[in-house]
Amino acid sequence: MNNKNSFIIDSPLDMHLHLRDDDMLKLVAPLTSKYFSAALVMPNIIPPITTKEALLSYKQRIKEACKNDSFSPQLTIFFQTDYSYEFLKDIKDEIIAVKLYPFGVTTNSETGVASMDVDILRPVLESMEKLEIPLCVHGETKGFIMDREKEFLPIYESLAINFPKLKIIMEHISSEESITLLEKYDNLYATITVHHLMLTLDDVLGGMLNPHTFCKPVVKKPTDKEALRKLALCAHEKVMFGSDSAPHQKEAKECHDGAAGVFTSPIALQVLTQLFEENGKLENLNAFVSLNAQKIYNLIPTKKQIELIKEDFRVPQSYQYKNEEVVPLFAEQTLSWSIKSVKDKDDY
Ligand code: NCD
Ligand code: ZN
Repeated sequence: MNNKNSFIIDSPLDMHLHLRDDDMLKLVAPLTSKYFSAALVMPNIIPPITTKEALLSYKQRIKEACKNDSFSPQLTIFFQTDYSYEFLKDIKDEIIAVKLYPFGVTTNSETGVASMDVDILRPVLESMEKLEIPLCVHGETKGFIMDREKEFLPIYESLAINFPKLKIIMEHISSEESITLLEKYDNLYATITVHHLMLTLDDVLGGMLNPHTFCKPVVKKPTDKEALRKLALCAHEKVMFGSDSAPHQKEAKECHDGAAGVFTSPIALQVLTQLFEENGKLENLNAFVSLNAQKIYNLIPTKKQIELIKEDFRVPQSYQYKNEEVVPLFAEQTLSWSIKSVKDKDDY
């Protein structure tokens, strides 16, 4: 039942998630699998996922880390320019998409593509088009930090034009200009994170430096945040929620060469509910966190339902497992919505 103090999300989906490996995987996977019905899992672990063997083994490790939760990890492989049609055909049923990282633009992208020249990418992208495998892209250049996404837009445009049947997902869009391009081509889609909806560059370095809000693409101007909010709050059919929750060890963030990535898995649904409620748009939340992604990726919804209630949730200082410690966004702050229960549709 939905009233002003309670809200139910059906089959929540996180369409951009970093689960890492080993003890970090064991720490963070349950923080997603408890509340989400499925998530698109990024392949930028070390070494990145580029073979079927590595993919199946990673899937198994994820499932073990999620214990008994009803959760479906949707895996991706790391784009390589030498993937053959036969390889992609063989792996197609095991993956939801292929993720393309330009070389060196973000965490663990050292084996990313060296050139975004369409003709270099063409053989693999044509195979993906034929096999109907979507392409997820980290769309940034190596230019000035605030302009990297904007500078990448002509590349998105040429991909959209050259491969009209390829579904291209502009990951974690962070700027107003990206929205204009998204609306121009039928085969472009986008994910939006919680942090790009909630933060600007002021939250990273406008006061004291906050490493826990530092990510790629970096959060931008108030006008960008407002434009992204407008798009998400109306649940535009080409956008879906993708947290880009990217955990790093506390010490790897709080140091002189801190890693990029904001950890949001355990707070995402609460923050989104608060944002949509405050803007009088709760009726669009299910589309943003589930329905749109179901349509874009042809996913079958599960019966999993999350009930949120308007009750304070104090965000923990950190989450720990063995030697791993991760600090979430909004640590030690109080959110006005909390998760009350996880049920199957039939139980209500
Ligand atoms: C991500 C990570 O840590 O893996 N970091 C980030 O700042 N978003 C990689 C990525 O999605 O760019
Ligand atoms: Zn990411």
